[in-house]
Amino acid sequence: MKDLSARLAEELRSAGVAEVAWAVVLGSGLSGLTERMQVRARIPFTALPSMPGSKVPGHAGEFVYGTLGGAATLAQSGRVHLYEGWPVESVVRSVRAFACLGAKSLLLTNAAGGIRADWAPGTLMVVLDHLNLQWRKPRTSERADRGPYSAGVLDALRAAAGARSIPHEEGIYAGMLGPGYETPAEIRMLHSLGADAVGMSTVCEATAAWGAGLPVGAVSCITNPAAGIARGPLNHEEVVEAGRRAGARFCDLLEGYARAASEGC
Ligand code: HPA
Repeated sequence: MKDLSARLAEELRSAGVAEVAWAVVLGSGLSGLTERMQVRARIPFTALPSMPGSKVPGHAGEFVYGTLGGAATLAQSGRVHLYEGWPVESVVRSVRAFACLGAKSLLLTNAAGGIRADWAPGTLMVVLDHLNLQWRKPRTSERADRGPYSAGVLDALRAAAGARSIPHEEGIYAGMLGPGYETPAEIRMLHSLGADAVGMSTVCEATAAWGAGLPVGAVSCITNPAAGIARGPLNHEEVVEAGRRAGARFCDLLEGYARAASEGC
């Protein structure tokens, strides 16, 4: 029987996906990037028999194929989470399919809680490494003698941020199983373990990409202070405004990365 990720790649090809310079997975609230693309095909998850469907409200659940910053781009808007009950190999199936399609790199993006007290909502964090606290891992044959995040992708993200003066932080992402948010005691534990941000995705996808030889990077958008971190109640307008500004900076950063990808970086 053919591997399901290879089948998914074939289904994406049949739906119009051709060359892929880079792929991106867009987390909650980050699908606005597709508005900057020149779109050639929109493919809902439901049109792809080998793609596990997304059941979480607010996730668009589609692939968008086209051009961004001159680069052939395959964006996955919405993702499949472990906390919905999917097995880990379903969670990473699209990432393995991107490798089958010949993508040269992958960016994983997510909404995350900030563990650093000085990081306001709206902060962008480029992920340097992660703590996988989901107690699941996709199969890989490689030895884990380094983190999964590619130095080349990290350099390209730093260059894109530098060229456009996009403020950003760098740090460690803690991947939790969810679906509920953490307790303040859990956040103190994550802080003492070296985490800077916390979320419920990304870690298995990054491991699968690395295992498939697909250079991978990740960007977290800090949407809220993690439990117990905020000193006072949050002003709703400030959070909405931070999200709006973060959205523009996030898209600028990824568009800058796409330009580098179009030049073969
Ligand atoms: N915790 C876990 N996941 C999240 C959070 C959080 O505070 N914010 C956004 N995703």
